[in-house]
Parts: sequence; structure tokens; C-alpha cells
Amino acid sequence: MKQSSLTLLALTLTIGSASAQQAPVPSGNAEHGKTIYREVGCYQCHGLAGQGAPMTGPRVSRTEFAFDGFLNQLRHPANQMPPYEAAVLSDSDAADIYAYLRQMAAPPDPNSIPLLKIAR
Ligand code: HEC
Repeated sequence: MKQSSLTLLALTLTIGSASAQQAPVPSGNAEHGKTIYREVGCYQCHGLAGQGAPMTGPRVSRTEFAFDGFLNQLRHPANQMPPYEAAVLSDSDAADIYAYLRQMAAPPDPNSIPLLKIAR
């Protein structure tokens, strides 16, 4: 009985501190984000247009992650991506990258590109 209430307390504390740490949605400087994206090497796995590639990393252009989730992936990657600690990439630089990725243009419809048009 005592043990289960301790577990509950630990769980409550964990959830409480996680929500207290939620970063506000930053405005971010997309132009600076573009520079940082190249400087810290995101492009090497995610591509210069954030398009991604099957063997290196998923598409990140127009990321649908909330900023919290985006930052969490940088600090504590889900799988094979190398971690970017705050000493290497500040929250503010991460926010600039986020702004850069969010404002990227959607790719054109393949059917609007003559070479890619499927012959019928
Ligand atoms: C060495 C290759 C590599 C580098 C460098 C890299 N990533 Fe990743 N990234 C990955 C891989 C692989 C994944 C898939 C999840 C995982 O392995 O953690 C990923 C996942 C992500 C995701 C989640 C995408 C999704 O839809 O699931 C985001 C966002 C992301 N990376 C952003 C960045 C940013 C921003 C940088 C630069 C600060 C960066 N990555 C640098 C390989 C890389």
C-alpha cells in the first residue's frame, strides 16, 4: 500500500515537472535558422531542403511537431539521430531552425511537372 502511494507521488511529480518545463512557442528568426541548420549539420541527414532521405533521416521541412516536441527530439532523439545538447545548440538557435523549417514552401504537385506526369 505504502509503495503504491509512493509510485503515485513519483508519477505526479514527474508529470508536474514535465508540464512546468514546457517551452513557450518561440517566434524564431528563419533567416538565422537557415544558417544554423547548415552550420550544425542538420542538412547532412535531412537534406538542404529538409526533404529527408530513407537511409539518413525523415523529412523535416514544414515539420508538424509542436516546438516542445521538436526541441525534445533534438535534446533526446527518439532513435538514431545524434543528440544536440544546449551547449552545442541553444534553445534560441533551435527556435530559429524551427521557424526556418516551418516556413519552407510545400513541393509542387508532381502532375504539374511534365517529366513526372504519368502517361495515361
Ligand atoms: C546523423 C544524422 C542526423 C543529423 C545530423 C540530424 N538528424 Fe534529425 N533525425 C535523424 C534520424 C535518423 C531521425 C529519425 C528519428 C531518430 O533516429 O531519432 C531524425 C529525426 C528528426 C526529427 C523528427 C522528424 C519526424 O517527423 O519524426 C526532427 C524534427 C529532426 N530530426 C530535426 C533535426 C535537426 C533540426 C537537426 C540539426 C540540429 C537534425 N535533425 C540533425 C538523423 C539526423
